[in-house]
Amino acid sequence: MLESLPGGGSAVVIGVGGAIGAALAAACSASRRFAKVYGFSRRVTPGVAGVSAGYLDLEIEASIAAAAAVVSAGPPPRLLVIATGILHGPGFGPEKSIRAVDGATMLKVLAVNTVGPALVAKHFTPLIPREGKAVFAALSARVGSIGDNRLGGWHSYRSSKAALHMLIKTLSIELERSRPGTVCLSLHPGTVESGLSAPFQANVRPERLFQPEFAAGRLLAVMDARQPGDSGGAYDWDNQPIAW
Ligand SMILES: NC(=O)c1ccc[n+]([C@@H]2O[C@H](COP(=O)([O-])OP(=O)(O)OC[C@H]3O[C@@H](n4cnc5c(N)ncnc54)[C@H](OP(=O)(O)O)[C@@H]3O)[C@@H](O)[C@H]2O)c1
Repeated sequence: MLESLPGGGSAVVIGVGGAIGAALAAACSASRRFAKVYGFSRRVTPGVAGVSAGYLDLEIEASIAAAAAVVSAGPPPRLLVIATGILHGPGFGPEKSIRAVDGATMLKVLAVNTVGPALVAKHFTPLIPREGKAVFAALSARVGSIGDNRLGGWHSYRSSKAALHMLIKTLSIELERSRPGTVCLSLHPGTVESGLSAPFQANVRPERLFQPEFAAGRLLAVMDARQPGDSGGAYDWDNQPIAW
């Protein structure tokens, strides 16, 4: 797995404290494709075996810069995955109607799901080698697709992920010039057992509720398969394109 990436580099998982982030970091470590695997999150314990843990809060840019400085001292990153995200939290959840939109909540969701990944790109993409394949991926969600939106609702989360898709597309155009081997991707993991999806699993068929390890394996296979010509696109866990 991940043989499309030149060996000897590092893998960086932002959000290693999350369900999918932890599984991604563990799979990167087990792949033996990387000289070093970094995992950053707000909670650095208990950690993932074989993964070098560090602190990062997407809402504190200085912590993102500090994490990038740590990575810059190691092997060059070939795989950068942002596995963070919020859908609900203390006192808020996805909106059922526009009447439920609260400005502060919407700004919080945008801060974590959109602005945070932009700041990660700002501080980490300069570390990506100029030659050879590398992947910069952000976990998104199919509900961030404008073309696929038939149900409505979830205004803040949908908007934050739609904006994330635009960010990844815009980044891909910029990196095409300086790092033509880099593939920028928005990835939908499927419905995965995690704290984020826990309140919304009731209507999911059991065979469509993935374990984080399964989702991580499929997402890494997508990152392995996608090439620079695919950069800027959104894909699901089954390597199918998602309409914007
Ligand atoms: N699970 C699904 O069914 C599903 C479906 C579609 C898309 N996704 C996407 O997949 C990604 C991963 O979700 P998941 O299911 O693995 O959820 P999860 O287990 O809740 O993980 C999300 C992680 O985001 C981190 N986070 C939140 N705010 C942060 C901040 N300010 N700074 C740094 N980290 C922050 C959380 O860190 P703490 O641990 O410190 O709180 C948490 O570990 C998200 O982008 C989500 O939108 C998931």
